[in-house]
Amino acid sequence: MTSVLIVDDERSMRDFLKILLEKEGHKVAVAESGNKALDVLNNLDVDVIVSDIRMPGMTGIELLETVKGKHPDLPVIMITAFASPDDAVLAMKNGAFDYITKPFNVDEIKSVIASATNKNQQTIKPQDLSASFPEIIGKSREMLKIFDMIQRVAPTPANVLIYGESGTGKELVAQAIHKHSKVAGQNFVPITCSAIPEDLMESELFGHVKGSFTGAISDKSGLFNEADNGTAFLDEIGELTPIIQTKLLRVLQEREIKPVGGTRTKRINVRIIAATNKVLEDEIREGRFREDLFYRLAVVPMRVPPLRERKEDVPMLVDYFLKKYSRQLAKEVQEISSYGLQVLMNYHFPGNVRELENIIERGVALAGSNIILPESLTFSGKTKPTNHDTINNEYENLFQAAASEEELFDLGIETIIDNLEKRLISHTLKKTNNSKIRAAELLQLSFRSLRYKVKKYGLS
Ligand SMILES: Nc1ncnc2c1ncn2[C@@H]1O[C@H](COP(=O)(O)OP(=O)(O)OP(=O)(O)O)[C@@H](O)[C@H]1O
Ligand SMILES: [Mg+2]
Repeated sequence: MTSVLIVDDERSMRDFLKILLEKEGHKVAVAESGNKALDVLNNLDVDVIVSDIRMPGMTGIELLETVKGKHPDLPVIMITAFASPDDAVLAMKNGAFDYITKPFNVDEIKSVIASATNKNQQTIKPQDLSASFPEIIGKSREMLKIFDMIQRVAPTPANVLIYGESGTGKELVAQAIHKHSKVAGQNFVPITCSAIPEDLMESELFGHVKGSFTGAISDKSGLFNEADNGTAFLDEIGELTPIIQTKLLRVLQEREIKPVGGTRTKRINVRIIAATNKVLEDEIREGRFREDLFYRLAVVPMRVPPLRERKEDVPMLVDYFLKKYSRQLAKEVQEISSYGLQVLMNYHFPGNVRELENIIERGVALAGSNIILPESLTFSGKTKPTNHDTINNEYENLFQAAASEEELFDLGIETIIDNLEKRLISHTLKKTNNSKIRAAELLQLSFRSLRYKVKKYGLS
């Protein structure tokens, strides 16, 4: 029987988790604050802690830090709100075992607790290697696993197959593997298999000798020659035609190439990293991809997960792209409004990181102030924020748009507050169909002072 300590300032939440976990056969203790939790820890053997982050007094993160100081091996699972992805990142950075998001998914809670308490199962706790991969942004568990994997596979000569949806960062991962490999000083030569017509593919890969076909006006060395002793990156490998697949397989088996029209073979030593956004297993089943070639390429298969499976990376990526594009476009856009970020967090990103990058680039280009508002976000996919959300959050946007630092210092706080007040009142009047009585109620003003302000600002 495992013993779970639940820490939450909200009684209903404690009760809910207690009932749920007791049903699962766990022994459950509860605490309503971080300090109480530390008391419990002094008197009880606890196997896992489940703690809220936002609590009055000691926060969940502070509790996490204290607990990790005393019991580094005690798994702590943090509860975060879906709308505050930063909390999740912070929790993982501070050594949380994992996090669960509110509103709860009961199965998720059960499985996270099960994996935290299953002592036989080797807990995969990927190290935070993100500092070693500065050009790949992300600190989600999924990305940490990828960093871990890159670090382990890079120094070996094993061929790697990177697969994942378009725009997930496969090419970045390929470059990182080369950079961390023993042949980092040698060439990294990429080729996009889909971009080359079939009749030129063989010569692109293996070279040709002058005069071997019309247009072969001089010798060409080809990808494998250029990547000799280094790394060849075969992008969109799923697009190779059957004939080229067969030729490539032979090269991988025999480690020698013969240029088109040539008579002599040459030994080569090339590490292959291939990438595809197709499901190669399906291609194999449909007879479009050679299974033997697949096994040669996928000695180490690596999946780069879609962005929607690692939403907690979105804020970091947004930050990174904001800096990149405000520099590139010479604009002073520093942040995104919190509702803007929320909209992004609710989006499913069919185009993954590439799409997020494009959204932010456009957002920076379109932004009228130093903050990106939801209006400047454009989406390719179907899920957009509903009208209802937009209206509810227009107030928030008014606050966000109140003033840039520049405007504030230029116009002074009184003017900025007057402007904001004017816009908030005007907005509320719209909402109440110009009923001053109702607007005064909503804004918690007396009718007289509302009437005065309406007059002062020339609203009616
Ligand atoms: N984790 C990341 N951090 C920073 N930039 C990223 C990250 N992932 C992707 N990008 C950027 O997104 C764009 C797409 O990435 P990349 O070309 O590596 O994707 P891909 O998986 O190869 O896509 P495709 O299958 O369409 O070729 C690039 O501009 C890349 O720099
Ligand atoms: Mg690519």
